[in-house]
Amino acid sequence: MLITNIGVLVGTDGGDTPFLRGKDMNRLGTLSNAWLRTDGERIRDFGPMDECPAPRVGEEKVDAEGGYLFPSFCDSHTHIVYAGSREREFIDKINGLSYEEIAKRGGGILNSADLLHATSEDELYRQAMTRVREIIAMGTGCVEIKSGYGLTTADELKMLRVIARIAESTPLKVKATFLGAHAVGRAYAGRQGDYVNLVCNEMIPAVAAEGLAEFVDVFCDAGFFTVEETDRILTAGAHYGLRPKIHANELAVSGGVQVGVKHKAISVDHLERIGDEEIAILAEAQTVATMLPGASFFLGMPYGPARKAIESGAIVALASDYNPGSSPSGNMRMVMSLGCIKMKLTPAEAINATTLNGAFAMGCSNDYGSIASGKIANFYLTRPLPSLEFYPYAYATPVITRTYLKGELA
Ligand code: NIG
Ligand code: FE
Repeated sequence: MLITNIGVLVGTDGGDTPFLRGKDMNRLGTLSNAWLRTDGERIRDFGPMDECPAPRVGEEKVDAEGGYLFPSFCDSHTHIVYAGSREREFIDKINGLSYEEIAKRGGGILNSADLLHATSEDELYRQAMTRVREIIAMGTGCVEIKSGYGLTTADELKMLRVIARIAESTPLKVKATFLGAHAVGRAYAGRQGDYVNLVCNEMIPAVAAEGLAEFVDVFCDAGFFTVEETDRILTAGAHYGLRPKIHANELAVSGGVQVGVKHKAISVDHLERIGDEEIAILAEAQTVATMLPGASFFLGMPYGPARKAIESGAIVALASDYNPGSSPSGNMRMVMSLGCIKMKLTPAEAINATTLNGAFAMGCSNDYGSIASGKIANFYLTRPLPSLEFYPYAYATPVITRTYLKGELA
């Protein structure tokens, strides 16, 4: 396929680097008045229109009519396989209950686990696919999906099989994470230690035996799992080749960053409550500091200190956290805009945080996250925009006209 008359080709600078950290996050790479050629599912080449090659015989030609071309969003933290929705808690929150109070009353994650248990695998797949189609239409091309609403071995495996089925049946790139330690399953109420044993001794081996996950996650936070429990679970995961990617410091200064970095986590996520000590650690680490401004927005929590983390030299990614309790949206464009509006990222930094660095936080930035020769052809076209900055600025104006995944119209 040959795409011509691209107003601005965005994200051409990430071909030579697996991630961008610190001040380099402002390096985006743009080319005005450009063409781009794909070869099957990969990007072949691109350049300025005054050097546009002639179309080959039989080659599909697309006129971008002056619109922008962006690399697809890489959403490195979601929980999009879940049953039903939780708008009842939404009303509880409007009436003043906090996320932790709802969880303590047996709501929250356990509500979703009950519903998931009662939902067939086929129905769960059907419901998740609605969200998959929704995020594809909003420009996402690569997504991480977690288990964690099963909380029994059988139901965790059921969730992970649904994730595998999504991976097989869509052109989206899908990465699976096992999050058995999302909450203590109902049958283990009051016996958290026994539940952690179950995660380590039964769930992790079962997940590994079926090859259903690449990453292991723990909700390491006040009221959920302790640093010691996290340490045990990550050690068990490492034994089966599962790399950590953990929930840390959402509700308290939990020690999650430290235990994650100690275990060479690919990312530590949330980070609404990190201080100078955690920032200094992330500035030195290869672990991505993933922040989730959609959860801060929805729950009225503080935003993670992304600006400070970037200034200190960390690798910062932004992800949606799409889930029924704390962020019921997978709109990565909104996430990018919140990065600018609430976290004071520049548009270039916010785009890199939602594309290349997100891909790195999923271990696939060699193939995704920027416009480079040889990478997978995942990108979308917009209508003509007055400027790059207009995109995060006009945060709710629809601009996407066509989305391509693996070089095909999605
Ligand atoms: O990332 N913080 C933990 N887990 C999810 C929320 C899960 C839920 O409430 O269903 C999150 O915010
Ligand atoms: Fe999450």
